[in-house]
Amino acid sequence: MTDVDFRPRFPDARLPIAILGCGRIAQDAHLPAYTANGLEVAGVWGRNPAAMASVRDRFPAVGRVYSSPEELLADPEVAVVDIATPVAARADWIAAAVAAGKHVLAQKPLTLEPDLLEPVLAEAAAKGLRVAVNQNGRWAPPWRVASLLVRDGAIGDVFAVSHLHDKPLPPIAGTPFDDLEHMLVTDYLLHWIDISRTWLAGKVAHTVQASDSRVPGQPDTARNPWSASIAITCTDGARAEMRVTGNVRTATPSCPFWIHGTEGTIRGSVLFNSDRVALDDGTTVTEHPLSGQWFVDGFAGAMGELLCAIAEDREPENSARENLATVRLMLGARDSARQGGAVVDVSGLRL
Ligand SMILES: NC(=O)c1ccc[n+]([C@@H]2O[C@H](COP(=O)([O-])OP(=O)(O)OC[C@H]3O[C@@H](n4cnc5c(N)ncnc54)[C@H](O)[C@@H]3O)[C@@H](O)[C@H]2O)c1
Repeated sequence: MTDVDFRPRFPDARLPIAILGCGRIAQDAHLPAYTANGLEVAGVWGRNPAAMASVRDRFPAVGRVYSSPEELLADPEVAVVDIATPVAARADWIAAAVAAGKHVLAQKPLTLEPDLLEPVLAEAAAKGLRVAVNQNGRWAPPWRVASLLVRDGAIGDVFAVSHLHDKPLPPIAGTPFDDLEHMLVTDYLLHWIDISRTWLAGKVAHTVQASDSRVPGQPDTARNPWSASIAITCTDGARAEMRVTGNVRTATPSCPFWIHGTEGTIRGSVLFNSDRVALDDGTTVTEHPLSGQWFVDGFAGAMGELLCAIAEDREPENSARENLATVRLMLGARDSARQGGAVVDVSGLRL
């Protein structure tokens, strides 16, 4: 099991990247990941003048600061546009980048209107451009090892995926995220929906059910509920469940997960230095040695996979087209949460 190659991968040729929407996550995670791995950042654009004035002092590898997103898209040096705007602006900027002949890495959630994005993805495919999604959690070391083991058939046919958030929430109250509808379901848990879908790949979804609720101790200033659960069922009876209990107060935060298959079990945890992953084949438990962290290696992994796919002339694992299934599951969960936890039929959705 020690030979699972879970680290981010990069091609020899490092195409120039420009970040459109260089806000908090781009400065906290994208730029540190890219500069640590020697990727070429041609330039960045963001709306905050103070942040943009100091960005090259903090990240000397950044080539320039553009005066507008249009100037960024018109730069012939830029091959890949890394879009890290809020979701409402995402689809239009993906379309503009494809129109400008650029490959794209788009932050998650990819879009809230998958049908509108389909023609843009068709245009990109016709132009030989790759559009990928920054589902960086897929390269969180324990989750990446688990994905590679599942893909190799190490636990047979997966029949259950379970996640528990035994950890504090990130700051939400007072941030723009608290303005998003059913934020835990539509934004925060999207990484967990996406990784669960990855582990159930090839199956056909049947239903989605989600609910959220306010919890004792939650301040009035926090608009979104602090507790949420999502359950996904498949036509063959396989299930994925994920649960945020609230803003957990603990000295040992963790985010454990279990993948149960017909031939074995994968157990692990992610985030807050709780990283671990083990394969249990029914007789022996083998811990996998890990290095790195979701923040920021996951961000290097997502961009690295896009750059490899461009170099190798293939679809990236994190392609926007396949990520539409993640988006559709999330929209089903949102519709369920809107109805207080009603069962939503998503029959026919291939995971
Ligand atoms: N782990 C993760 O992958 C992760 C973590 C945090 C945030 N995110 C996602 O990243 C996105 C950005 O989050 P953030 O916290 O960096 O937000 P932010 O507000 O700090 O940054 C957003 C950036 O987009 C720009 N922007 C805002 N509206 C725009 C518009 N209409 N057109 C063009 N640019 C616009 C802003 O100037 C800023 O540069 C969100 O969709 C969020 O869900 C992902």
